[in-house]
Amino acid sequence: MAAPSDLAFDPWDPAFVADPYPAYAWLREQGRVRYFEPTDQWLVAHHADVSALLRDRRLGRTYLHRFSHEEFGRTPPPPEHEPFHTLNDHGMLDLEPPDHTRIRRLVSKAFTPRTVDRLRPYVRELADDLVAGLVAAGGGDLLRDVAEPLPVAVIAEMLGIPESDRAPLRPWSADICGMYELNPSEEAAAKAVRASVEFSDYLRDLIAERRKNPGDDLISGLIAAHDEGDRLTEQEMIATCVLLLNAGHEATVNSTVNGWWALFRHPGQLAALRADHSLVPTAVEELLRYDTPLQLFERWVLDEIEIDGQVIPRGAEIAMLFGSANHDPAVFADPSRLDLTRRDNPHISFSAGIHYCIGAPLARIELAASMTSLLERAPTLRLAAEPVRKPNFVIRGLEGLAVEVG
Ligand code: HEM
Repeated sequence: MAAPSDLAFDPWDPAFVADPYPAYAWLREQGRVRYFEPTDQWLVAHHADVSALLRDRRLGRTYLHRFSHEEFGRTPPPPEHEPFHTLNDHGMLDLEPPDHTRIRRLVSKAFTPRTVDRLRPYVRELADDLVAGLVAAGGGDLLRDVAEPLPVAVIAEMLGIPESDRAPLRPWSADICGMYELNPSEEAAAKAVRASVEFSDYLRDLIAERRKNPGDDLISGLIAAHDEGDRLTEQEMIATCVLLLNAGHEATVNSTVNGWWALFRHPGQLAALRADHSLVPTAVEELLRYDTPLQLFERWVLDEIEIDGQVIPRGAEIAMLFGSANHDPAVFADPSRLDLTRRDNPHISFSAGIHYCIGAPLARIELAASMTSLLERAPTLRLAAEPVRKPNFVIRGLEGLAVEVG
């Protein structure tokens, strides 16, 4: 085996993407922070540091609330990428206070644990129907047949996207998400731009229609929302809907298939889960930790910071390795072991600080619902073929997961 080296962290190497965890272990041993030239980022791999930096107000998801691109020493994005940035930069995930606070406050009313809890029976029914279809067919693709349609239907239903309009949501989302990988190609950027234009146009029309004929959906709610005089601008509405639709399914789809793939590779753990369905809540958390669906998040350094004696100046970028933080032995006993009974599990898969995932309570309900339906209705579920991993590093998923039942 080759000695681990700097090349051990290589997000473009399929072998690294297949299993990045040994490289993370090596990175953590090297120290707390390390400059990575190919992306011009500072890598942070320890749980304690990732957790602290996510809460550190000297860092931000954007710098544009304080500095121009030039003042921050960065080149503005090329004009042809503009539709993507207009969309992306108006979503709360890419805003900082005070805009972030205003938009998050309005949206979070729809995502309180209590509001979301009311969706539990509906989500379960949907999961049961999808799993019944899979069982009737004797198997299929767990991604296409269960993992994907469930969260897409839930978030589309919440927003009030008519069923007949839902087919392009997933391709639009996938194309936009291409921009969240490290150093996206021009081809990926062109796809993201086209999807941004089409998705925005579609939502602009839908919002106009809801303005005329409000319903009891989230879009109508956001149009009507007043919060201490705050409202969303039309561009913020569009960006919020796109963010909710994208963030509202992408990671849940991947968590479901990554999770079942991990279960199939650990038959002893799967047998224990089948024997005791009360393990579902801890199993959901452990699978989110074990194969982290979103591997890396970035922050800009707005005011100089120091990590372990290393000064990181304003204008630099930090890449926090969530998958590594979730495998840090300083926090997780025996981190490379899948343990569905793990109780002390402060994984960071939903982030922390002001951008902590607003959809975490919903994601947990969806993941538990599909897992329970599959355990109850497809007790013989098994792998039909070795899955192919998507080549992406940041958004970690599979191309599909072929399964058999019966
Ligand atoms: C397993 C599923 C999910 C995972 C792993 C996940 C993970 C995350 C993470 C890591 C962040 C913060 C990124 C950062 O700090 O830079 C985030 C933010 C967000 N997520 Fe999720 N998410 C999931 C499901 C959902 C769902 C179901 C929804 C909505 C229905 C959602 C909506 C959002 C939104 C709107 C934000 C932005 C919050 C803000 O900036 O204040 N997510 N998510």
